[in-house]
Amino acid sequence: MQERPARENWASHAGFILAAAGSAIGLGNLWKFPYMAYKNEGGSFVLIYLASVALIGLPVMMAEIVIGRRSQRSPVGAFLTLGGKAWSSVGVLGIAVGFIILSYYSVVAGWTVQYLGRCLGWSLGGFTPEDATNLGESFGAFLRNGPSQILFHGIFMGLTIGVVAFGVKGGIERVAKILMPLLFVILFALCLNSMRTPGFGEAIRYLFTPGPISKGGILEALGQSFFSLSLGMGAMITYGSYMRRESSIPRASVMVCLLDTLIAVMASVIMLAIIFGQQDRSQFGASATILFTTLPRMFYEMPGGTVLSPLFYLLVALAALTSTISLLEVVVSFFIDQLNWNRVKASIAVGLAIFSFGILSALSFGAVKSLSTFAPLKDTPEDAGFFGQLDYLATNWLLPIGGLLIAVFVGWFLPNRTTRDELATAKGPMAGYGAWKFVLRFVCPIGISWIIYEVIRGAKFN
Ligand code: PHE
Repeated sequence: MQERPARENWASHAGFILAAAGSAIGLGNLWKFPYMAYKNEGGSFVLIYLASVALIGLPVMMAEIVIGRRSQRSPVGAFLTLGGKAWSSVGVLGIAVGFIILSYYSVVAGWTVQYLGRCLGWSLGGFTPEDATNLGESFGAFLRNGPSQILFHGIFMGLTIGVVAFGVKGGIERVAKILMPLLFVILFALCLNSMRTPGFGEAIRYLFTPGPISKGGILEALGQSFFSLSLGMGAMITYGSYMRRESSIPRASVMVCLLDTLIAVMASVIMLAIIFGQQDRSQFGASATILFTTLPRMFYEMPGGTVLSPLFYLLVALAALTSTISLLEVVVSFFIDQLNWNRVKASIAVGLAIFSFGILSALSFGAVKSLSTFAPLKDTPEDAGFFGQLDYLATNWLLPIGGLLIAVFVGWFLPNRTTRDELATAKGPMAGYGAWKFVLRFVCPIGISWIIYEVIRGAKFN
């Protein structure tokens, strides 16, 4: 057998953090979290979300990176090397989930590209009162327009394939290094701007004053933390496999969790401040489409909006891109590591397959009736349709199951020697190792099983 070439590594420690944060920060933070916080009436939802990031998300993230760096493989190979044949099915599950999530995620990501284009048009050509009244309608028309849905989904998949084809250092790391800092700057500017608006105070109160919360809201917060931190399907295993030996896993994980959470909270402040600044709030409902139907108008009503609105959609598109890159990388690295394909061929072939499957989601917003009403798994208006069903399946079932199996594997099956060694830093053993292990062995499995149990019992996630 041929000797395996040494695995490609991130060029720097910061490279890993930026790439991993890039994977974590995406539509989950900028699109899903704000409307979930709004819909679940803020305070308690945010608190429970924070608790589940700290108690379940952070330990599981460390566990995933340990698996990746120890094995130097992407998920299937990683479980095969460290756990044997039976465990490798967890890797296979991860790849399937990556395939599924990317297929529909890229459709929404495509909308952000469309809105970036629209906002550029409005900023340059003027945003008329008719444009303002037509926002909802024109978004609806865009959703029902099959060819444009496929076109923008295709554009986004094309961008993603392009980056992944260039590899870890030349593609993923280089893009993350440019885009992530830019993203922070734009978001920071938007946040500063929102402090001057009348809705700011109420947004802060809404987000940080705990109130009553439904059981469904608790579960939703837990599932969202998995989705937002890119956990449960092997993205962090894959990125961890490119991590250098000298980098500290605990430190990197804490950093990624902090950044991801900070961005989600900042995005919520920005959006809720805009919403609460409006006289007539009735139109907002609990709609998941706020980002496209109401935000543009608010932008053009506020000072600096002509600059801020295209910047904002650029930010969302960039954040989505660094996430789609990680989703594609999980699937592509399987073909590279296990089947010896070359990177360019694997990126194109896998990317095209995912694009094709994603067409079903792209057409499920009204373009094709049977796809739009498809609801074998869960029959609520929000989840109906091919897109909604896949998102429900992945976020509420597959990610928690994957996370549970990963916690059990690292908590109960990997020898202490291995985990202690991986988590140690140059300065010595990790502080709080015992606590981490305890949480991974007991708190995570029990907490996650509880979610799954509730789902099986039919608790609604909304
Ligand atoms: N974490 C990403 C987001 O919040 C989505 C994602 C999920 C990416 C799972 C990779 C794996 O948008």
